Order: sequence, then C-alpha cells, then structure tokens
Amino acid sequence: MKILTVVGARPQFIKAAMVSRAVARHNAAALPTAPPVVEEIVHTGQHYDHGMSQAFFDEMEIPGPAVNLGVGSGTHGETTAAMLRGLEAEIVARRPDWVLVYGDTNSTLAGALAAAKLHVPVAHVEAGLRSFNKRMPEEINRLVADHVSTLLFCPTRAAVENLASEGIADGVHAVGDVMYDAALAFGDLARQHSDVLDRLGLAPKGYALATCHRAENTDSGERLAAILDGLGRVAESVPVVLPLHPRTRERIERFGFAKRAERLRTVEPVSFLDMIRLEQEARAILTDSGGVQKEAYFHGVPCVTLRDETEWVETVEAGWNTLAGADADAIAQAARDASPGRPIADYGDGHAADKILSILLCPSSNPEEET
Ligand code: UD1
Ligand code: UDP
Repeated sequence: MKILTVVGARPQFIKAAMVSRAVARHNAAALPTAPPVVEEIVHTGQHYDHGMSQAFFDEMEIPGPAVNLGVGSGTHGETTAAMLRGLEAEIVARRPDWVLVYGDTNSTLAGALAAAKLHVPVAHVEAGLRSFNKRMPEEINRLVADHVSTLLFCPTRAAVENLASEGIADGVHAVGDVMYDAALAFGDLARQHSDVLDRLGLAPKGYALATCHRAENTDSGERLAAILDGLGRVAESVPVVLPLHPRTRERIERFGFAKRAERLRTVEPVSFLDMIRLEQEARAILTDSGGVQKEAYFHGVPCVTLRDETEWVETVEAGWNTLAGADADAIAQAARDASPGRPIADYGDGHAADKILSILLCPSSNPEEET
C-alpha cells in the first residue's frame, strides 16, 4: 500500500509525525515477506521558515519529504492554485492508494481536492471539526475536505455528530486524536531534554504562555490591539511568554503595535519539545490555536481561548477552557479565574495513529474505537 501524505503547515508536521511513526512500527513488525507500507510525504511549502518547518522534521525525526513544492506565502487563491497544480502532478506520477490530509489548512484543501478530482481516495485526519463560522478560511477548508473524503478520522464525539448532521456517516471512524498521541510520546522527552525554562529564566508555574496567529485576530487591528492589551493586563501579575508566529510579528509591525507588545516576553517560534515544556509548566495558557487549546488540557493547564468560538467544545464543557474573544477585560478576568476542570472522555488512548493505519490497510475493519 502506498500513502501520499500532504503537509504544509506547522501543526500538520506534528500530526503527520505520529502516523509516520505508526508506519515505521508496522513495517518493523511485519513479516519480511510482507510488502511494506510506503509513505511518501509531499510538503507544499506553505510554511518555510526553519522554525516553522524543518525544525519539526529534525526534532520529531519525520521522514524527509519526497518533494517540497515550495509554494510559500501569498493570497488564498495564489497559494491554493499553486498547491493544486503541484499536487495534481505528484499524485499522477506517484499513483498512491490513499492521499492523507490533516486538519484544515490550505494545504489540506488542495490535497483533498487534487486527489478527489483524480479519483484517488482521500483520508482526512481530524475530520468533523466545525466552528460554524464560515468567515474562517479553516472552516471552508474542512467542509470541503470532509465532503470529498472516503475515510474520515474523528478525534471527538462532537466531530462524529457534526458529520452525521451533514449526512456523512460512511467511512467515519472515531479513532482519537493524533495530537494526544504526540503529547504522550513527547511529554517525557520534553521534561528530560528541553532547557527552555532556564534559557528564558522562567520558574515552573511562574508565568503564562500565549500564542496568537488566527487570521480573524491578526488581520483586524481592533482585535489584535484588544488581545495584546488583554495579555498586557495579565502581564501585570505574571510574565507572559509569547512565541510569535511570523504572521503576527508582521502584523504587529504593520499596525504599529510594538509598544503594546512591549509588556510581553515575545520570542521566536519555539521547537515542539520547548513548546510542550512551556505548556507543562505554565500557570495558564492563552491562545487562539486549535492544537494549543487541547495541549493545555493534555498537560493539565487551564486555557483561555482568544476567540469567540471553538471547535474543541468539550474543553469548554469540561471547564478547562474559557472563551474570552478579543476583549481585553474578558481576557484579564478569564486568566485570573482560570482553573482546572473535569476529565474529558475524548481524544482516545494515545494510539490514534495506529488505528488510522489499520483502517487505511483494511478500510472495512473497525478497530476498537475510543471516542
Ligand atoms: C496557517 C493555516 C492555519 C493554521 C496555521 C498554523 C491556512 C488558511 N491557515 O495559517 O489554519 O492554524 O497555518 O500555524 O492555511 N509566514 C512566514 N514564514 C512561514 C510561514 C508564514 O513568514 O514559514 C508568514 C507570511 O507572511 C505569510 C503569513 O505568515 O503570509 C501567513 O502564513 P499562512 O501559511 O498563509 O497562514 P498562517 O497564518 O500560517
Ligand atoms: N507549536 C510549537 N511552537 C510554537 C507554537 C506552537 O511547537 O512556537 C506547536 C503547538 O505545541 C501545537 C502546534 O504547534 O502542537 C499548533 O500549531 P499552530 O498553533 O500553529 O496551529 P493550529 O493548531 O492553530 O492549527
């Protein structure tokens, strides 16, 4: 069986790393006479800074991409079109049995569309997530990806229900969350190997960790100002560490918000192990990232989400996560009130990637499902 994996953006490298490891485990355990599972990774080049891309391949030992399309940055139309053209040629030349896409980025959209038009079956990891806000590019991307996918791997029960309400039931599998697999696989390694707390002079539980990169927050001067001011209010009582996504760094400069950001400990994007270490020891996490909201829960840290809605509704229902939007007062208040919640019965058992591979190998199978 040949899988063509399409990735392009930071969170996809992390998710894909777990499935690549499952492929390696499978091949190592298979009889020498059995044909190996072949995985070829196509990197669209959507993210390209070393700290947004290659650092993850190195640290997580992800097999190098067979090809990098080098698409880079641009408008949605420009980049998605370039990805489609490049991916179509790769799929035709490589003739995979499956095209595997992750999450909700433009690389996901392009991979799913290119494959579906070539009648190559698409498998979507992190299917069924919905914000019900079609102004988000991610919502359009996941709607399209889900509706052209043959296999839909859901991390939560809410995701399965969202698909059911859109009439999608065939090929839906509640396998758990590959991000939870990653949190378990790299949690202890981060504790042992990351010296980020020492490097940044931070005491365990003596700081808050923040990230912000969503288009809806960074393209609006009003929302970005309110978020920086809210984080600034939090910084009056505890240092706020903000690894800055390149998009946000650029917008802060463009809007002339450098002064607003001065109260925060802004740093370059950090490696995955450093990020996990920062998450593990944060007093609270403030973020508009999808992945980081869940990692807060995985590492037992309360979260404040800098958005008006979330796809990860179970984190809010269980009391781990508070939606504060882009409102400085609400952010400051939510950070003061942030406290642990109840256990969440989603995200699986840390073996989502193995289940995904089993189903790809035998799509009619139904390995014990977790969510
Ligand atoms: C993308 C995804 C978003 C995901 C995020 C993960 C889409 C529509 N959005 O958002 O869903 O949560 O990745 O991080 O696919 N830039 C650099 N260097 C890089 C990458 C980006 O400087 O290596 C800058 C460029 O100015 C670029 C901007 O960031 O224009 C935005 O990059 P882009 O990939 O379009 O969107 P993200 O905001 O990263
Ligand atoms: N992350 C990281 N370094 C950083 C910021 C984030 O390793 O400086 C990791 C984070 O731990 C999570 C993933 O990147 O696993 C989330 O990616 P991002 O927030 O860019 O995208 P989203 O999840 O919102 O799509």
